[in-house]
Amino acid sequence: MSNKPAATERAPGNLKNGNPNESSIVFRRMVQDDADGVARVEAACMPVPWSRQSFWEEASHTDAYYLLATDAERDDLIVAYAGCWVLANEGHITNVAVDPAYQGQGLGRRLMNELILRVKELGVDSMTLEVRPSNQVAINLYTSLGFRSVGQRPKYYTNPVEAAEIMWNTKL
Ligand SMILES: CC(C)(COP(=O)(O)OP(=O)(O)OC[C@H]1O[C@@H](n2cnc3c(N)ncnc32)[C@H](O)[C@@H]1OP(=O)(O)O)[C@@H](O)C(=O)NCCC(=O)NCCS
Repeated sequence: MSNKPAATERAPGNLKNGNPNESSIVFRRMVQDDADGVARVEAACMPVPWSRQSFWEEASHTDAYYLLATDAERDDLIVAYAGCWVLANEGHITNVAVDPAYQGQGLGRRLMNELILRVKELGVDSMTLEVRPSNQVAINLYTSLGFRSVGQRPKYYTNPVEAAEIMWNTKL
């Protein structure tokens, strides 16, 4: 994909040392005004990105919990997000993405750990997600967080067409 715009271009240099260490990042819940910033990270990370409108709508659902990682010194600079639908005791993860400029530095793990902590406080004790079998980085992250594959949904993804690996962690 050639459209790797704003999130990647804007982010570096705004964080201390360009490194998402603990003091340079804060976590907070998404609100509707964040839809533009989240959509920018999404477009930089996903082959079939969700629209700004989708995130705007997600932010209005009380059952949807989207956690953002932002620059500690600039609340509107979103560098990562993870979304989850809380359905009774189950958390259904919808999206996880870290701005490419911040990948591979531990931020995805911190974000997921923080999301898990927060939804556990809402009564969630099991979480599930879908991931492309070819996305070894994400699978490694989820496996290390206790998720296990329980099967596949054929032809779940487009661009390119690919099955989805269905993963669960039933012992949060
Ligand atoms: C998947 C993603 C969220 C991970 O976030 P990240 O900040 O890059 O990951 P972290 O640096 O926190 O690393 C977490 C774990 O991921 C795995 N990982 C990270 N980079 C990796 C690499 N280059 N190769 C293999 N595994 C890797 C490792 O298991 C790592 O744990 P470790 O460092 O203890 O070994 C991020 O790469 C991303 O946004 N990718 C594009 C969008 C995407 O694929 N989202 C998931 C859709 S299901």
